[in-house]
Amino acid sequence: MSKPVVAVVGFNGNLGRPIVNALTSHLFRNNFSLPVRVITRDSSKVKEDEYPASDVKFYEAHDLDTYVKALTGVNAVLDVRAVAALADLSLIEAAKKAGVTLYSPSDYGVDYYKAGEFRTLFKRKLDSAAHAKALGLQVVQFHTGFFLEGALKAVPKLIFVDPTNKTANYPGDGSQEVTFTSLRNIGQAVAGVLSHPFNEIPEQVYIGGDIRSIKETVQTYEQVTEISLQHQSKSVEDFVKVAQDHAAKGTLLAGFQDVLLALAVSTNSANFSDRVSNKLANPGDLFEWDTVSKIAPTLLSQK
Ligand SMILES: NC(=O)c1ccc[n+]([C@@H]2O[C@H](COP(=O)([O-])OP(=O)(O)OC[C@H]3O[C@@H](n4cnc5c(N)ncnc54)[C@H](OP(=O)(O)O)[C@@H]3O)[C@@H](O)[C@H]2O)c1
Repeated sequence: MSKPVVAVVGFNGNLGRPIVNALTSHLFRNNFSLPVRVITRDSSKVKEDEYPASDVKFYEAHDLDTYVKALTGVNAVLDVRAVAALADLSLIEAAKKAGVTLYSPSDYGVDYYKAGEFRTLFKRKLDSAAHAKALGLQVVQFHTGFFLEGALKAVPKLIFVDPTNKTANYPGDGSQEVTFTSLRNIGQAVAGVLSHPFNEIPEQVYIGGDIRSIKETVQTYEQVTEISLQHQSKSVEDFVKVAQDHAAKGTLLAGFQDVLLALAVSTNSANFSDRVSNKLANPGDLFEWDTVSKIAPTLLSQK
């Protein structure tokens, strides 16, 4: 295959721009056949002049027929849509019909294959990968741990911090490690991986911008915000019980962050230290990995 044509589906969320920016960046653009195809449900939300037309071509699509039209001539599809979208498998059906080779499901989080009793909570993601494989598409799943920006800024619960009560709650000495990757690095890592011949890309790709202990992350939060937190010990069983209660009550959507915390402390689905594919994603250290310590001062000072 000559340089691949790549499509990114679900542009207007967290991942669309970082991935498109990386695919068209000076680091990676020569590895792809431009323009990147960007597929969105609503192109009125897109600024047409955001990218040169030679770099990015926008397509409006939302069902089998419109997806097939947008994907004809595409080699790799990056699905970065919200989980709600994954209930409908028409994008995957369309990829097959359009002659796509590689389909990457909307994963970008914890390694749910290691999620034990909570694995079935990721059913839509599991189903996407299984369906694409059943249709004979090459599947590449990107696992990235927690989004660094989201965890630090929007959802401090994911770094075990409760800013309202000025507490940090974690089991034992907080030495469990958790993976964080910035959105910028996710885009670069995806572009880096897709720069390899497809037959050299493994099915499971683990990206870890920063893998660090819960305690270290809490301490960084305290140093940067100058807020001193009361460190409270909460057992692994307590974390698991909260997640199990959400499962029993059917409040999993609202309680999803609690499930992620339970996974982080009771399984190694958020700790990728034994399986990162950073070298595959960033051969020759083309780009710098963002770390919690480096990003926290900027992120936490923004209103
Ligand atoms: N690791 C983490 O910390 C973390 C955090 C959040 C999310 N994630 C994962 O990242 C992936 C993307 O999630 P996200 O939060 O970034 O999504 P998002 O921002 O809520 O949505 C992404 C895009 O999906 C498209 N979309 C939304 N609903 C749709 C529907 N019903 N049908 C078709 N398209 C739809 C929209 O694109 P258009 O408007 O352009 O069509 C939307 O902008 C998911 O797999 C999610 O689990 C991981």
